Amino acid sequence: MLIAAGLWHAGYLGLTPKGRRLFLDLLPRWRDVTDPWKVLSYNLGFAPEKPKFGRFSYVEKAEYWALIWGTMLMGVTGVVLWFENTSMGLLTKLGFDISRTVHFYEAILATLAIIVWHFYFVIFNPDVYPMNLAWLTGRVSEREMQEDHPLELERMKKEGTLSAAPPPKPGEADDGPTI
Ligand code: HEM
Repeated sequence: MLIAAGLWHAGYLGLTPKGRRLFLDLLPRWRDVTDPWKVLSYNLGFAPEKPKFGRFSYVEKAEYWALIWGTMLMGVTGVVLWFENTSMGLLTKLGFDISRTVHFYEAILATLAIIVWHFYFVIFNPDVYPMNLAWLTGRVSEREMQEDHPLELERMKKEGTLSAAPPPKPGEADDGPTI
């Protein structure tokens, strides 16, 4: 299922205009190397403002490419483990054992990355606690956009691609229009 989902995603990236745009927006740029230092400097109180991000910050790009890399690694080593007789014939017992070791440690690394890193950004970070619901709703409030992706918000306003959400129900927090 993981391999099927990966292939589906690759098809989406390559074959649809939205997917191609997503891929281009996720490509690492030079500012993804400099931004972490600027954020560190801001967090330590040396800079008055944090850098303004576009659609994806270096954090989201790093998480995305870690997922892609992890999926490819688990897919390839998983197939080696799956067809053990064929792969031992092709790669020798040593090659098979290396694949198993890589598969095992990547499983631990990926699990820890999700629990420590990913859960921090989408659950335990005080800015989003108890949870960033974008993964369920597909939407982000204007306030969140202003805070985390101001350049993308600016671009959407210019292009007129903002979509308004239904007004909040009584008692519900109003975070401004969602996007
Ligand atoms: C996130 C995805 C995955 C995780 C976390 C994961 C985790 C694991 C772990 C921890 C093991 C035990 C390793 C050991 O005994 O040293 C294992 C074994 C195995 N995995 Fe995966 N795996 C994943 C994806 C896949 C995929 C995509 C495939 C197939 C293409 C696959 C095929 C296998 C096979 C065949 C075994 C050996 C089972 C056995 O001999 O009992 N895995 N996996």
